[in-house]
Amino acid sequence: MTLLAVAVGGRGVVAPDEPVLRADDEALLRGRAAFETLRVYGGRPFRLSEHLVRLATSAERLGLPKVDAAELQELARLALDAGGTQDCVLRFFWTPSPTALALVSELPEHLEPLRERGQRLIALRGPRADEPWLLPGVKSTSYAVNMAAEAEAKRRGADDAVFVDVDGVVLEGPTTNIWWRRGQPLFTPALELGILAGVTRATLLELAAAAGYEVREGAFRLGELLEADELFTSSSVREVMPVAELDGRPVGRGSAADELQAVLRAAATLPA
Ligand SMILES: Cc1ncc(COP(=O)(O)O)c(C=O)c1O
Repeated sequence: MTLLAVAVGGRGVVAPDEPVLRADDEALLRGRAAFETLRVYGGRPFRLSEHLVRLATSAERLGLPKVDAAELQELARLALDAGGTQDCVLRFFWTPSPTALALVSELPEHLEPLRERGQRLIALRGPRADEPWLLPGVKSTSYAVNMAAEAEAKRRGADDAVFVDVDGVVLEGPTTNIWWRRGQPLFTPALELGILAGVTRATLLELAAAAGYEVREGAFRLGELLEADELFTSSSVREVMPVAELDGRPVGRGSAADELQAVLRAAATLPA
């Protein structure tokens, strides 16, 4: 993602290649910082307050100084003005030093072609982070493992991964929540499994109910995904993204993903 603009707490807008962190900031030394990624539609960050609430919760769980939401909103405004684009990605970082950052980047170009083609996913087995000390649901900058999962998926000729625990229970993707439809109902893993409470996931739960879908949240095994009529992921930047292949097997293309993508876009671009 091409970085267009950066705003820093106490400094305002700085050049995107300007250093912004202290060398002893634990965000760098330990990966101990909170972050958020949002999509901006027509100049308006979608579900901004929900993202700021999640950032504040992550910061508290990580033992960071209290998040100053008003400061972050002001930094977002400055960075969005400086970025000069209405449709983009906005990221917030809140570090222990403490440093507040708002970053504005270009939307990745490959998203719409990928939505057309559908993603190829591979399942990766790993631990389930459902013990409180493992920071379930905390969006921290310790994402090296998530990035390694994406890299492993690419190495195996896929686009992305879906995490499955050691018992075969489906969790989430490295940066997405996962959904599927079998018959009429939609299914998605429950938050109690220690997955991230996606803001898009929460939005889709509302929108799917309004569109007449029953949604079942729970613990489901990988085999159930393989029998799904359709499969898709949700995240702030990629929105609703259909899956075309799971572990090399074709997955059906259905209408729920397209319908939910359309209502999500409509909600995100609703005139103020
Ligand atoms: C692990 C993980 N799960 C799910 C998501 C999707 O969350 P959201 O819809 O809030 O973007 C993300 C977002 O980056 C994530 O990192």
